[in-house]
Amino acid sequence: MADEQPIGIFDSGVGGLSVLAHIHQRLPGEALLYVADSAYMPYGCKPEAVIQQRCVKISDFLFRHQCKAIVIACNTATAAAVHHIRASYAFPVIGMEPAVKPAVFHSRSKVIGVLTTSATSTSDKFNRLAARFSQHARLIVQPCPGLVEQIESGELTGSATRDMLSLFLQPLIRQGMDTLVLGCTHYPFVSALIREIAGDDILIIDTGAAIACELERQLQNRQLLSENKTASIEFWSSGNTEKVAPVMSRLWGDKVMVKNLPY
Ligand code: DGL
Repeated sequence: MADEQPIGIFDSGVGGLSVLAHIHQRLPGEALLYVADSAYMPYGCKPEAVIQQRCVKISDFLFRHQCKAIVIACNTATAAAVHHIRASYAFPVIGMEPAVKPAVFHSRSKVIGVLTTSATSTSDKFNRLAARFSQHARLIVQPCPGLVEQIESGELTGSATRDMLSLFLQPLIRQGMDTLVLGCTHYPFVSALIREIAGDDILIIDTGAAIACELERQLQNRQLLSENKTASIEFWSSGNTEKVAPVMSRLWGDKVMVKNLPY
């Protein structure tokens, strides 16, 4: 039955686990299949064509595993490939983009920081989004090269990660930012450090919960929601699974077994 088929969720690495957690919490009866493209991470410094190729490979894998929907749990991959994937498959494809619209709504100072990968910051898709809101607020887009690698290596609280984040955040704080958009799914894993550096008065916006809502809405519209109470979650990675599994387990908050994605 279609409603018992899994939902495929993918990212360049462990970042999408921040989205997976929201999905699992909202839809505990759905079977979930998570793919981390660890061998090719980070996507954020790669050309769009390379990211597109990887997204196609992973989508084909999820299609062969009979997924009923795909969530691209990655802002960078969405910007590079969502149109292509939507055009190629019949199943619903949910993508992500930095939450600029809610940030403009909530910000009082109308000075908004947006942390992204380099690829997202230069993508047409993101720049069209930023232009749509440029009359309503000042958006300060801050690419964060190196931060994804820190998170992938499990460095969530150390001094190197703190120094890096300070460097990225201080200019935004100095310019009067009151709202910060986490425009990469890896960044929620360092939100405690961000909070320490930016202070309690800054509103930090992450898109994971909104994506889980949108997924539920799309499945409901197509009558594809599972009626199970609980379901399994599978974890796959294109990288060295022995290296990836401990970091995934730590970020997921439970020991996970990671299967090898063969390409
Ligand atoms: N987690 C991804 C995102 O949301 C990208 C990380 C990477 O650069 O690989 O953009």
